[in-house]
Amino acid sequence: MFGIRSPKKNSTAATAVVTGAGSGIGRAFALEIARRGGVVLCSDINLESARETVQLIALAGGQAWAWRCDVSELAEVEALAAKADELLPAPVDLVINNAGVGIGGKPIGETAISDWQWTLGINLWGVIHGCHVFAPRLRKLGRGGIINVASTASFSAAPLMGPYNVTKAGALALSETLSAELAGTGVTVTALCPTLVKTNINANGRIVGESSKLFDRLMDRFGMSASRVVRDALNALDRGDLYVMPQFDARLIWRAKRLIPRTYAAGTGLINRFGASRLH
Ligand SMILES: NC(=O)c1ccc[n+]([C@@H]2O[C@H](COP(=O)([O-])OP(=O)(O)OC[C@H]3O[C@@H](n4cnc5c(N)ncnc54)[C@H](O)[C@@H]3O)[C@@H](O)[C@H]2O)c1
Repeated sequence: MFGIRSPKKNSTAATAVVTGAGSGIGRAFALEIARRGGVVLCSDINLESARETVQLIALAGGQAWAWRCDVSELAEVEALAAKADELLPAPVDLVINNAGVGIGGKPIGETAISDWQWTLGINLWGVIHGCHVFAPRLRKLGRGGIINVASTASFSAAPLMGPYNVTKAGALALSETLSAELAGTGVTVTALCPTLVKTNINANGRIVGESSKLFDRLMDRFGMSASRVVRDALNALDRGDLYVMPQFDARLIWRAKRLIPRTYAAGTGLINRFGASRLH
């Protein structure tokens, strides 16, 4: 009865901020954190959708708040942190940098620069803003965790996904660097790298032409549920794992890229010549 008490897990009874919490993976994170006894500030560029997530949490007996935040704007992420100080009962100790958009279907050179800017603004600058604003707070607190929602696209280099791949590679590099910088501070960083997850990413994004239809078919057939993905991610955070790849194909691509890089690169070229190039 006097056993050693294990330290509180980062995902349990957390005081959390989730970006993009109005849909898909972000909503699943908010619900799961609340289920684990945490309180959540649900932020999204679409306030109505964040409010719906709050209602779902309330219906399940949890506590959450909604706030509009466009993660591509540093001032809005700073305002989000200030709102968290005002609304939440304790300092934030869990940050989920999740907000993101999908884009694909056009090769580099045919993708409009405005599409590159839109994608980088949300998927890359959004995560940079989240880490820039919240990492110093967590370091000061001396405990907690950050999950950055990256993707298998961080390292898969699939054709016709240039802007998306670039932003997710950046989000992974940022997570790895931040993890090193926070080592020994009590704060851990986890990069979530799933393949397909059943969410609204295609409907909400700019995946065009045949690529969009193919994406929907693949997502229907092979997509993992968002609730399963976030459980894996939060468990990985609790173990202090930097990388979490919930699906077998993600782990396979990760290993192939490292073990047989030339064969892997040749394979993506073949996929483009005989598959992807016919999609646009
Ligand atoms: N669905 C997948 O197959 C998949 C796979 C790997 C990674 N991801 C990543 O998961 C994350 C969540 O995407 P999802 O699949 O749940 O898609 P989703 O479209 O269902 O949800 C994304 C949410 O982000 C919000 N959002 C968009 N722009 C925003 C902005 N500027 N500021 C704040 N919120 C914004 C949207 O309103 C939406 O509620 C993204 O980073 C995405 O790249 C998704």
